[in-house]
Amino acid sequence: MEKIIALCKRRGFIYPGSEIYGGLANTYDYGPAGAELLRNIRNLWWDNFVHKRDDVVGLDASVISHQEVWKASGHTSGFADAMIDCKNCKFRMRADHLIEEKTKEKVEGKSIGELEEIIKNNPKITCPNCGKHNWTDVRKFNLLFPVNLGIVEGDQSLAYLRGETAQGMFINFKNVVDSSRVRLPFGIAQLGKSFRNEITPGNSVFRTLEFEQGEIEYFFDPEISNWEKLFEEWKKIMWDFITKKLSINGENLRWREHDEKERSFYSKKTEDLEYKFPFGFKELWGIAYRTNYDLTQHGKFSNKDLSITDPQTNKKIIPHVIEPAVGINRMLLMILSDSYTEEKDRVVLKLNPKLAPYKAAVFPLLANKPELVEKAKKIYHDLRKNFVTVFDGRGNIGKRYFAQDEIGTPFCITVDFETLENDTVTIRDRDSMKQERVKIEDLIPQIVKKLG
Ligand code: GAP
Repeated sequence: MEKIIALCKRRGFIYPGSEIYGGLANTYDYGPAGAELLRNIRNLWWDNFVHKRDDVVGLDASVISHQEVWKASGHTSGFADAMIDCKNCKFRMRADHLIEEKTKEKVEGKSIGELEEIIKNNPKITCPNCGKHNWTDVRKFNLLFPVNLGIVEGDQSLAYLRGETAQGMFINFKNVVDSSRVRLPFGIAQLGKSFRNEITPGNSVFRTLEFEQGEIEYFFDPEISNWEKLFEEWKKIMWDFITKKLSINGENLRWREHDEKERSFYSKKTEDLEYKFPFGFKELWGIAYRTNYDLTQHGKFSNKDLSITDPQTNKKIIPHVIEPAVGINRMLLMILSDSYTEEKDRVVLKLNPKLAPYKAAVFPLLANKPELVEKAKKIYHDLRKNFVTVFDGRGNIGKRYFAQDEIGTPFCITVDFETLENDTVTIRDRDSMKQERVKIEDLIPQIVKKLG
């Protein structure tokens, strides 16, 4: 993990948030390479789940939402983590993370009382900061970020930053039904930032205060569609997206079902697709059968009729939902972990070329020969019209290959003296390191073909 974090900083993927002011815990910024990678993941997700499906439409709802949304959904009362403080050094931690770190025991779903008992009765569960066993009681902290709107303070101006994108789909359910041609079963999909006031033990962007989610609410009539069958279908779609579209090694993935204690209050069945991160198997993508809990709640709280008439049966129903919900930043961390490869004398990110921040890099063999630089710039400008390309004229050619391997650039093109004679260049493949000489006019079609 440390090596991946160092590479991310060195090559412009991820920087610690507010770094010049000493940092702000659990926030991160994405550099030039990271911003491209995030964008590629988002685009692939959107293309796969919205553009390529007849039965899913997109949505882009507001991040700031009415306090009633979160009362109705149950988040103002039920969306909390159990925290504990060290009385000696004031270090604060999630009680479940503390136990898991110190005892390797899984405690998901345990009550506050049970967590407290485990910690207080085990002197080996010491503070990771100062080493003492001197804990406060375990307390619940709500994860929602409150915001005060306008200049009037008080309950009227209270709103929340959304804790999940999902609620945007529920509160706009009627709007979407009335303004588009959707028919059950159908999905509403959304990509966007969510915010949770979490305390985390590090691990880069795995768990942060603000993060991007890709969520789908797939609405159906449970009397017509079998929820267990839909659930299994969506599980297969999720698995295929990770292994086929993102080219992640299936051996690093597994399903884990939540037991009754761990399941969220709204869910009848939940499974996590877990990835083997350098710090162990952890949730990447959750799938939950939320029944019609959310629409029913919003109907009650808003006094609006959120039922629809099924044209097949002419029956009024409040549809049920299956919800696949993933974190885009967590996918990015998985992709970096899975593609990070150490070879004899290089480190290479063996990214699926579709995800690579830059598809090609163009170099002049020597940066102090204007005729080589001019030719390389011309090729760079031509390639850039077709795919994201970088130009690199710094250092020697070996250093440039080394840098592009660490960023995961699939193709490096070098303009040398032979180029000036016969309009050919070398193209080097990132993974095999093999170089081929090709005509400049064939470059774009060849790279487009290799990108697939
Ligand atoms: N609407 C359901 C929901 O939000 P969740 O399991 O809390 O479910 C879904 O979140 C996904 O969002 C997770 O599987 C994870 O990938 C991502 N996620 C959740 N909290 C996160 C955080 N603090 N930082 C980064 N990603 C997070």
